[in-house]
Amino acid sequence: MAEIKIYADHELLMRAAAEHFVSLYEAAVADHQHFSVALSGGSTPKTLYELLKEEMFNRYIDWSLVHVFWGDERCVPPDHADSNYHMTRLALLDAVDLPLTNIHRMHGEDAPEQAALDYEKALHDFFGQGEEVRLDLILLGMGDDGHTASLFPETEALDEVDRLVVANYVPKLEAWRITLTTKAINAAHHVAFLVSGHAKASVLQEVLEGPRQARELPSQLINPTSGGLTWFLDADAAQLLSRTI
Ligand code: 6PG
Repeated sequence: MAEIKIYADHELLMRAAAEHFVSLYEAAVADHQHFSVALSGGSTPKTLYELLKEEMFNRYIDWSLVHVFWGDERCVPPDHADSNYHMTRLALLDAVDLPLTNIHRMHGEDAPEQAALDYEKALHDFFGQGEEVRLDLILLGMGDDGHTASLFPETEALDEVDRLVVANYVPKLEAWRITLTTKAINAAHHVAFLVSGHAKASVLQEVLEGPRQARELPSQLINPTSGGLTWFLDADAAQLLSRTI
């Protein structure tokens, strides 16, 4: 069952998400001595990343125990302005003591299908061949069309039931993306959506309270098999929901 948390504004949402991140880090390290997290791209999570490098949160994190993955990546070089890796480096990774070996980047500069195959191998290498790939936390945003990661409406990646990572052509963007599949996301110990701003209010109400139409609203596909799902919302994004703060 999804947990929905609504905060008065963007800043309070992000502070709550940072506390959630630290709490899950501490639990994961206590349980299996590391914390594997897939970061989201887009603009919303940048505030969270910038908070995590601040002393008030950074003090609780031994980054040598953190392994960073991505939920999706654009098919561009790692130093490209559109790269999710580039954005997270600037917002967080360059400012914390994260060993390079703990950065597991999707290679957006490579041919999309090869990059997807390589990333799936990297996940299996990290979790152990034959072991289930279960990230401790997957951070997700949601577009105003209901997409998440690079699972866009009516795209082929929505139909993937076996692979953990695929290359997904997005006609509306006329671009290829690399993305975790719903299978990979729903296997996570915890999934957290971060949704902020009034522009997301209408699609959020459809996703959370409307009829199931997952091909049009791929965020509806996210339902962890045995993990937790938390929606971190601000009041602007949640304004059309039947529940309020
Ligand atoms: C990406 C993200 C994507 C993002 C949504 C929301 O690569 O862009 O993975 O799924 O989370 O598009 O983006 P905003 O947070 O910028 O609204």
